[in-house]
Amino acid sequence: MDQQYWENRYQTQDMPWEKGAPSPGLMDFLAAHPELPRGTVCVPGCGTGHDVRAWAQAGFAATGFDLAPSAIQLSIERTKAAGLNARFQLGDFLRDEPPIQFDWVFEHTLFCAIELSERGAYVRAVPRWLKPGGYYLAVNYLIPGEDGPPFGTTRDEQWRRFSPHFNLLQEWVPRSYPNRTRLELMLWWQRK
Ligand SMILES: C[S@@+](CC[C@H](N)C(=O)[O-])C[C@H]1O[C@@H](n2cnc3c(N)ncnc32)[C@H](O)[C@@H]1O
Repeated sequence: MDQQYWENRYQTQDMPWEKGAPSPGLMDFLAAHPELPRGTVCVPGCGTGHDVRAWAQAGFAATGFDLAPSAIQLSIERTKAAGLNARFQLGDFLRDEPPIQFDWVFEHTLFCAIELSERGAYVRAVPRWLKPGGYYLAVNYLIPGEDGPPFGTTRDEQWRRFSPHFNLLQEWVPRSYPNRTRLELMLWWQRK
């Protein structure tokens, strides 16, 4: 799944992940945590930027990254139209060097979008983009199957891959979009 693949999905409007709104689980998390310091947030694979705008609306300095130029263009246009202040940058989360190390990395349907052979690179990228002690907040899509995208994962796989590098602070089943109800699990990790 290279840049051309994802750009084509946007060009042909083949975007079933596009829900027109941020992750409900993220919205609830932000509403439940007004006490959190308003730091920097990286949203890799940000799509058209709904989650980035939710972080920005909550007062965080949010930056969205995506491999597809059309995703970045749509994100910039929609953020301007919403009158919000957030940044967007074309980039490959798995391979690029981060411009800074962030206080937060927020995952939402990027892990399930990358090929199984790339998962090790994804897991190595998260601590690279995060400050020591920074938070990795993930909305994991717990579906079966190796035919994707989306590619399936399990709670066990998330634990096996991330617990060597992160302490798990909390986990819960979030409110979801209607067609993902009870298929999502949120894991809030802190980089060791
Ligand atoms: C399934 S979509 C999800 C978009 C968004 N997170 C959402 O939930 O609406 C996956 C997104 O990740 C982007 N993407 C895929 N591989 C990437 C990579 N290595 N680095 C950054 N973005 C990537 C794709 O272009 C696409 O916009």
